[in-house]
Amino acid sequence: MTEFQPGILHEGSAHHIFLEFTVSGAPRFLPGRALAIAPVAGGEQVVAFGAGLLGCLRGVAPPPGAADFAAVVAGAGGYVAPATQRDLFVWLQGERRDELFMRALEWREALQGKAQLAAEEHGFLLRDSRDLTGFVDGSANPQEDARRTVAIIADGDHAGGSFVMAQRWLHDLAGFNALPVADQERVIGRTKTDSIELQGDAMPANSHVSRTDIKRGGEAVKIYRRSSPVGGVRDPGLYFLAFSADSNRFRWLLESMYGLADPSRRDRLLGYSKPISGSFFYAPPKAPMLAAFER
Ligand code: HEM
Repeated sequence: MTEFQPGILHEGSAHHIFLEFTVSGAPRFLPGRALAIAPVAGGEQVVAFGAGLLGCLRGVAPPPGAADFAAVVAGAGGYVAPATQRDLFVWLQGERRDELFMRALEWREALQGKAQLAAEEHGFLLRDSRDLTGFVDGSANPQEDARRTVAIIADGDHAGGSFVMAQRWLHDLAGFNALPVADQERVIGRTKTDSIELQGDAMPANSHVSRTDIKRGGEAVKIYRRSSPVGGVRDPGLYFLAFSADSNRFRWLLESMYGLADPSRRDRLLGYSKPISGSFFYAPPKAPMLAAFER
């Protein structure tokens, strides 16, 4: 398999910074040398591009399925997953917040005048990998080799590439915490302390797990999630980040959560958290990405 960007599978970092840049102009263009001085070689870093910018990267062929994020609007009730498509995504991971911050500043300086920083989020590992709702996030994620199978394109012209979905969610923690724990567990579909999946009649059809543990054409729709808690005490939430070898899976999962086919099964989690941004990116394999930056 062509080498993918190793940061995709690097797990357990204490700190994360997510940077989303936009590039002006039509067609959009970002000179490779603008990125040549940016620290692209480290393992704990992932760089990905919006569909509009992919075409300007020498040696990186845009894969079929690379597309901008399209908003999901679910009828009455104001359930919306907004599209705020950005052009360049940088995910920095590390054990030291200070060093990570300096790397983020380097990126910003390298892109000064060429790309605008449109969004910046600082994430952190919460206890044993919990979301700010207090539930473990990632229990049903693929493990070991299955992570690659799920997240990385295995063969063909785009082997080693990976499709990316990024959304900033804003939690209503007061609303969620006002629910008795047993009801919180019915919202998520797992127990809070031990993250054990609810079974049989105990599992509601509109729990988050029910809406995301889905099949399409008889096959399980699997993605590799790498989300992290973000925000301050005023705006706590989740930076939802996921990787997939197939770009369709993100849309299928969102449509299921938003109950597009069956509003009675809309994900109850949407009553306690809402996305305020949404982008799709493509993380090219490591070698062509580095080569594209050497111009
Ligand atoms: C506020 C936003 C979200 C929160 C707090 C959240 C949290 C969780 C939690 C606590 C679980 C159960 C434990 C686990 O397996 O990780 C879970 C499962 C899952 N979530 Fe989310 N999630 C959010 C948004 C999303 C979105 C936007 C998607 C996809 C578009 C998604 C896809 C999944 C999938 C595929 C599973 C595993 C289902 C299974 O196979 O059991 N989540 N999430």
